[in-house]
Amino acid sequence: MDDRRPGGPPGAGRPDDHVVVLFGATGDLARRKLLPGLHRLDRAGLMPRDYRIVGSAPAAAALTNEEFRAHARDAVREFGTGEPEGAAWDAFEARLSFGAADPEDPRMLLAAVRAAESALGGTPRRLCHLAVPPTAFASVVGMLGTTGLARGARLIIEKPFGTDLASARALNATVHAVFDESQVFRIDHFLGKESVDNILALRFANGLFEPVWNRDHISHVQIDVPETIGIEGRAGFFEETGTFRDMVVTHLFQVLGFVAMEPPVSLDARALREEKTKVFRSMRPLDPAHVVRGQYDGYRAEPGVDPHSDTETFVALRAEVDNWRWAGVPFHLRSGKSLGRRRQVVTLHFKRPPLRMFPDRSRTGPAGHGNVLVVDFDDPGWIAARFLVKEPGPAMRLTPARMTFRYGDSVRQQHGLEGYERLILDAMLGDQALFTSADGIERLWEVSAPLLAHPGPVEPYPAGSWGPARADELIAPHHWYLPDMASDEPGSGTP
Ligand code: BG6
Repeated sequence: MDDRRPGGPPGAGRPDDHVVVLFGATGDLARRKLLPGLHRLDRAGLMPRDYRIVGSAPAAAALTNEEFRAHARDAVREFGTGEPEGAAWDAFEARLSFGAADPEDPRMLLAAVRAAESALGGTPRRLCHLAVPPTAFASVVGMLGTTGLARGARLIIEKPFGTDLASARALNATVHAVFDESQVFRIDHFLGKESVDNILALRFANGLFEPVWNRDHISHVQIDVPETIGIEGRAGFFEETGTFRDMVVTHLFQVLGFVAMEPPVSLDARALREEKTKVFRSMRPLDPAHVVRGQYDGYRAEPGVDPHSDTETFVALRAEVDNWRWAGVPFHLRSGKSLGRRRQVVTLHFKRPPLRMFPDRSRTGPAGHGNVLVVDFDDPGWIAARFLVKEPGPAMRLTPARMTFRYGDSVRQQHGLEGYERLILDAMLGDQALFTSADGIERLWEVSAPLLAHPGPVEPYPAGSWGPARADELIAPHHWYLPDMASDEPGSGTP
């Protein structure tokens, strides 16, 4: 039995021999995540017994094999773990080659893929990773179809998958004209995070939490992903995308799916995706009155940004899952750039029991001092349960306490992989459990439609703050709650 991950197919060992074709190989994502990630998988002994990586980019950005290897070396040195040197690096580097491709002229790529396949011998699998701007998805997919590279291959597509329902449907149609859904892996690196996965284990492997994981006991849920970074020079991408599409539709809604889903009949891809899609189907269309869009001061002056841009760099919203488990329980989601702190946190706030019998309730006020379950899913992550205990002393005085599990302390932490790394591995293994399905993503765009049609104005906020004040009004009478790992105080969600 495979113990690699919850969704992993039983018995799965190493992936079959592979040719990985990396489109967008000279881009930012490849440099920061994908090339260092493939190298890390190699070092961890998790890549196939034999494999090749063929980098690709349009002819205008073509590299020689040597230049691509140097590019990969720099990327690993800057963003990877471990220095790119020695025999292990030489062996990794020898597996890299480059083949430029434009939709109208894919010959160099075809030659590079053929050379890689014949070097491997047999019938290696092919994994095409589209780390290209969304506007290029359709043309690359079309090229994979006309060249025959799609046959029997698997396809990883980056996000955002579409910009609204119509474009997501059109993109799905383009993809399905060339690939069967079983070949398609729409990637969301949040779902590769150890502690997001662990929500499944926490909920379904324990008798402790699941019985109270519902509207009878939970008053509200927060999924909070503030970031301190700005747009990091990604003006072109960000102007087209904005925080709602970049973070909420892509990442936060997926986390919501895991938090809210019913127990799946098994942890295989079909069962998990089915339950997640059922959550999305139960979601009410977003009410624009329950959404706050913000933009940090200075955004419009960033190079490449329209000086009149109304692209949001911050979103806070209330989502509702209208089913038997969750009706009436608001899910508050927040994410934004240039905020006070970086965090990635899910909190479940429990209803308060009657506390009348305790004469001194001065420390049990509404500011987060009730029962809360916190899942911090920023790597390496931690989980805490917060509850009330009696303060030592002669009087019956309550005080908050908590129990915490830290991934950083776990002995197996050394085996941890970054989100992208484990998802690329899953794609090579053909396990779709943690990838978004066509109907799931279309439903999320359907839920988002009222907001996209009536987004309302963006409200300015100072960089380093917590976004527009109206985000606090949105959640009232509750508060944004960002507990620290080290302290029991509510933290800096509401400065
Ligand atoms: C990416 C978004 O998908 O996720 C970025 O495009 C965001 O805007 C990033 O900053 C956050 O991911 P991480 O790796 O910091 O958890």
